[in-house]
Amino acid sequence: MGYQQLIATLWQQYSQEITAARKIHELFEREGETVVNDHIALRTFDDPRVDVDVLATPFVKAGYVEQGHYHFPAKHLFAKYYVHAHDVSAPKIFISELMVHQFSEWLQDAVAALLAAIPERLLNHPDQLISCGVPWGVPSYAIYEQLLAESQYAAWMYAFGYRANHFTVSVNHLKKYPTIERVNQFLKQQGFTLNSENGEVKGTLVDRLQQSSTMAEKKQVKFQEGICEIPSCYYEFALRYPDEQGVLYQGFVPASADKIFESTHHDPKQS
Ligand code: NI
Repeated sequence: MGYQQLIATLWQQYSQEITAARKIHELFEREGETVVNDHIALRTFDDPRVDVDVLATPFVKAGYVEQGHYHFPAKHLFAKYYVHAHDVSAPKIFISELMVHQFSEWLQDAVAALLAAIPERLLNHPDQLISCGVPWGVPSYAIYEQLLAESQYAAWMYAFGYRANHFTVSVNHLKKYPTIERVNQFLKQQGFTLNSENGEVKGTLVDRLQQSSTMAEKKQVKFQEGICEIPSCYYEFALRYPDEQGVLYQGFVPASADKIFESTHHDPKQS
């Protein structure tokens, strides 16, 4: 499968679900902008059946090359990112995995049970796994909450499964909104809520990457116990700066990504 098709499938699934992403995408297009994706983020667990390398397989087959990796010790995450070898306009693919063995035995067992429930067909076809949604049946809210107590990321994976966690608009490609501040101002005027953890703009000129994001959209999810509203996915915006040679920085900034992971934060007392 070509990478354009993999990305189109992920976008269709994501934009159908995430109203804010669909609306913002439409708003920019109505403003005469061409929306180019900077990167797409996928999530998984570090089990060798479904880890970052497995999820990357269809992209690598379609011409992507591993470019670097990051550790997020506070969140117990590891991530790699991939860049297309020839197509400079292709979005980067950022894939993170939860270091499951760093959590309680209860969480490790819970994740093992989820992985055991994934159909063999999907494990054998990572190109289908990446956008299969929840492959382990209807989730239990009790388990969701217990996962949430240890890891927001694990709880998100449990409730939403395999799909894009976020798409990211390349601000470098916008004409009327050439800075993160302009993008943020426009979105707030349009009534969207931004992630303001440590300020709305993550990263500085020195980092060569500035980012912002909407707060994750609340979605009604069917649990065994009934329907519950929980945070799902967010839309991200990235502006990259050139280095001394004039080449745009293509990597990521762990400290900023760490804060952006908070966009799917869920405080059960507040929802
Ligand atoms: Ni991102």
